[in-house]
Amino acid sequence: MLKGKHIILGISGGIAAYKSVSLLRLLVKAGAEVQVVITPSGKEFITPVTLSALSGKPVVSEFFTANSGEWHSHVDLGLWADAMVIAPATASSIAKMANGVADNMLITTYLSAKAPVFIAPAMDLDMMAHPSTKRNIELLKSYGNHIIEPAEGELASHLIGKGRMEEPEEIVKYLSRFFASQQDLKGQNVLITAGPTYEKIDPVRFIGNYSSGKMGYAIAEEVARRGANVTLVSGPVSITTKVPNINVIKVESAREMHEQCLKAFPNCNLGIMCAAIADYAPAEYVDAKIKREKDGIPVIKLIKNPDIAASLGQIKKDGQKLIGFALETNNEESNAVDKLKRKNLDYIILNSLQDDGAGFGTDTNKITIYGKNGEKIPFGLKTKSAVAKDIIDTII
Ligand code: CTP
Repeated sequence: MLKGKHIILGISGGIAAYKSVSLLRLLVKAGAEVQVVITPSGKEFITPVTLSALSGKPVVSEFFTANSGEWHSHVDLGLWADAMVIAPATASSIAKMANGVADNMLITTYLSAKAPVFIAPAMDLDMMAHPSTKRNIELLKSYGNHIIEPAEGELASHLIGKGRMEEPEEIVKYLSRFFASQQDLKGQNVLITAGPTYEKIDPVRFIGNYSSGKMGYAIAEEVARRGANVTLVSGPVSITTKVPNINVIKVESAREMHEQCLKAFPNCNLGIMCAAIADYAPAEYVDAKIKREKDGIPVIKLIKNPDIAASLGQIKKDGQKLIGFALETNNEESNAVDKLKRKNLDYIILNSLQDDGAGFGTDTNKITIYGKNGEKIPFGLKTKSAVAKDIIDTII
């Protein structure tokens, strides 16, 4: 379950930091890629040299590397991670996380993390029992963080009580169980289209559009992370994906995309039509570059491209689901609902160019999902990966 997962291991300053070394070893052994982020006081308990040797990556602790001035981006780290584990989490770090006190790299990374966060508290029993710690832990739970409860036993103070950080083996099991529970699309085959299509005019020119493919790739990655086998039929885009279980089929024109979709869809449980397909293509391809002086002003006759979503809607069988997108500039709701019916879709996801931050090229999107049974579910402006999660949660 942990193979290939990107995990941030946050270490704060407590005696239990020595156990983080075993935790790191176990995570790496399980196939995870681990980036250690340690607080300044964490380094009093365990050295970065040990941690970087075991993780195979330099340990991050400060906002900058002192001699080179290189900035360590907590935002990039937060986006990279599939999970963040803070073990040990001291009373002080817990308080800072609960209240957004961003005075070290671990806390800024926590505040930027988009991935699920797991917190393994470790402290003396009286600190653990204090109303302030209890309140902070409740706050963290209310943010959706997972608390890996400390065990009872002998503590660093030699007192016996609750506050011992959970054993590394148990933390690894907890994470594995979590990732297993996320595999709600395991064994499903999913077809996704993404990006624009290019319809060739001559060897150097085409008809295309501004689609970056970001939304379709974010959906493909979300679906693959949940255990599905993804066929991603992608138009020309500059982005790539490294998530396993995604078979990327690169195409250029709507006709090529249509052909690949017709091949793949019969074996799929779900199709998500995210591509911005050119509705028209030049009727004829001119195989030498059209010359300005010689050829005058060309008239390009267009023919209709196939409607891929509609043709999959026609061959859709019971048990298969088909989702479309609608990018509209006006009469958004009625246009979207009309497309839902016309193309025999189960859901349509509307994004409007009227909304700032929605649509082509941006890293964010704002959607409303319409279902064939009259459902209407609006969402706020979010990153495209968070939007992908909302879409899949809704469909499931
Ligand atoms: N679509 C498709 N094949 C096409 C055009 C669109 O599969 N030739 C899919 C898109 O991927 C999207 C949905 O149909 O999921 C709606 O696309 P959109 O461009 O909004 O709609 P059109 O059918 O092109 O309608 P209009 O031009 O009237 O907006």
